[in-house]
Amino acid sequence: MLGTLVALGEVAPLVGMGALALCLAAGFTLAWYWLAGVARLNAALRRAAEEQGPFSAPLPAPRLPAIGEIEEGLARLTRSLQTRAALVVQLRAADEAIVEALPDPLIVLAADRAPLRANRAARRLFGLAEGLVRGDLGALLRHPVMAAAMDRSLAENTPQAVELVLPGAVTRELSGQVLLMQPPLADGGCLVIMLTDRTAARAVERMRVDFVTNASHELRTPLASVMGFIETLRGPARDDPAAQERFLGIMAEQAERMRRLIDDLLGLSRVEVSEHQPPEGEAELLGLLRAEAAAMEPLYAARGIRLVLALPEGPLTASPADADQLGQVARNLLDNALRHAQAEVRLSAEAARLGTREGVAFSVRDDGPGIAKEHIPRLTERFYRVDKGRGRGAGNTGLGLAIVKHILTRHRGQLAIESELGGGSAFRVWVPAN
Ligand SMILES: Nc1ncnc2c1ncn2[C@@H]1O[C@H](COP(=O)(O)OP(=O)(O)OP(=O)(O)O)[C@@H](O)[C@H]1O
Ligand SMILES: [Mg+2]
Repeated sequence: MLGTLVALGEVAPLVGMGALALCLAAGFTLAWYWLAGVARLNAALRRAAEEQGPFSAPLPAPRLPAIGEIEEGLARLTRSLQTRAALVVQLRAADEAIVEALPDPLIVLAADRAPLRANRAARRLFGLAEGLVRGDLGALLRHPVMAAAMDRSLAENTPQAVELVLPGAVTRELSGQVLLMQPPLADGGCLVIMLTDRTAARAVERMRVDFVTNASHELRTPLASVMGFIETLRGPARDDPAAQERFLGIMAEQAERMRRLIDDLLGLSRVEVSEHQPPEGEAELLGLLRAEAAAMEPLYAARGIRLVLALPEGPLTASPADADQLGQVARNLLDNALRHAQAEVRLSAEAARLGTREGVAFSVRDDGPGIAKEHIPRLTERFYRVDKGRGRGAGNTGLGLAIVKHILTRHRGQLAIESELGGGSAFRVWVPAN
């Protein structure tokens, strides 16, 4: 019994030490797993912060359930962060695409007013290459009106309206707004300039005003003359039959001039209305030209001018085409040629291609004084006459070629004018034949 106790007394410390060693080993193992788990979590967090996604490659199953749960939570959190980040990228791309596609110019500036971005319309307006934001923008940003608007916007934090004329190769009329971005945009943009290019609209406005001014001016002159003669006929010429006869003749001329002008104006507006509607049907050019030439023949004979027809055999068909309108084109050109020719006008026609397009063409050539180069591009403007004094005296209004141009635009055709001072003029009309 005592022996057994002695033996136990010897074994007990050994068991105690073994248990202690086991506990220590278990503790170390546990600590090792914890440390390894924490290291994994740490690495996963680092990758998540770097937006790489911690679990893009699956991790081996964690050996501690608590770590596993934390890893699972972290994975969910990261997935949600990734989804949000993708959404932000998507929204920013959509915003940028919208800004880029806006029809009006938009420029984003940093706080120091350095340009950061310009959308496509702005790059086109200022002639900037793709992606390049500096360059000619300087003229706009230095413009006193723009500089003052930016100052006020920064000082008052309110949108500022701007209207300015920007000199350059093409003088631009711009209007727009300067907006302060508070807080600044993601790229540091502080000021946004939104512009509208009013150059074309103002030109159209001016043309309209000019048109009304010109039309009323053209009517006022003959009207004033008729009114003057009525006064004279009622007063001083009351008992003078010879003067009455002469004045009535002039009044009839002036009335005729007004009638012509009104006819031309109505004709022009009719053509303008239909300009955006392509013609339907077809027109046989040779028959049409012969008919117009025959109708003008007496006028040519009266002035002693020869009208030579150099027309080929067989039909020349324009299509799609409005025969009445093409007849008017021929009439207006033959009328001009008659007015300017010295002895002869030649009317010719042919089938002709324009690039890859099939078509037919006719030319009216005269041996008149010709037209100086600088006038040629402007002849088709309404009321444009080379020699205003002579034109008015001869009773013409300067609308004939404007009507021709509109008719040809409607036909998707072309007018070519060749002329030299002293060398006569040739007006060539081309219209498609499909
Ligand atoms: N064959 C030509 N030779 C020289 N100048 C021409 C010729 N045809 C036209 N012009 C010039 O072009 C101007 C414009 O011609 P357009 O036919 O538009 O008007 P217009 O003949 O003056 O008037 P309208 O035709 O309305 O009676 C003319 O005033 C004339 O100065
Ligand atoms: Mg004319």
